[in-house]
Amino acid sequence: MLSFCDNCFNLNKDNNWIQYFMDVIESKDPYTQGHSHHVRAVTEVIYGSLPKHHQHNIDKTKLLLAALLHDIGKIKTPDHILNKDSSLSDDEWEIMKRHPKDGAEIIQNTVFGGLGDWILYHHERIDGKGYYGLKADAIPIESKIIAAADTFSALRTYRIYRPAKSLEETVKILHENSGSQLDEEIVRCFLALDKNTLENLHCNCRICRERRSALEKGTA
Ligand SMILES: [Fe+2]
Ligand SMILES: [Fe+2]
Repeated sequence: MLSFCDNCFNLNKDNNWIQYFMDVIESKDPYTQGHSHHVRAVTEVIYGSLPKHHQHNIDKTKLLLAALLHDIGKIKTPDHILNKDSSLSDDEWEIMKRHPKDGAEIIQNTVFGGLGDWILYHHERIDGKGYYGLKADAIPIESKIIAAADTFSALRTYRIYRPAKSLEETVKILHENSGSQLDEEIVRCFLALDKNTLENLHCNCRICRERRSALEKGTA
């Protein structure tokens, strides 16, 4: 088993495990790679919006790594399910829902093993209706932050089969799901940020960049 070193936490350094994981994800699904970076960026903004007493109890570096790696388990999701451009069948959903557990297993014997639970529980809901049925306080706060960032990212991202939601629609949906799906306090702190900050939290995956540029040129 590998041990922690400074380089493992240096997001700018190329030749390390993070880059390795990102390369594997990108080769399989360019959307997931862009999405991972987007969720990391949104997670950082959410962390910055939280009260100091929460920030003091959270290891920010590890939180951002977990955000970046949260969907690493999708490496094991079959391509025809991962890249399907229409709704998934019930059976396909069951396979898709394995990715948090697969992700935790993939990293358990690496330097990122300590992030396993945060990745395992990133699809939990406050009301207990998530993948593993954990409720409210049983869910690690790191997973709750990543879940809020994940939802924001999914809504604000263009997919081949549907446009991104506007910021107004996204804010409305996050408010509606606060307290049931997402943690109330986290959503409240995040959405209290100024509109420009939220508007500028773009996803930079290839699809989103192309769609934004087409919209700016009026060719969309
Ligand atoms: Fe996920
Ligand atoms: Fe995700």
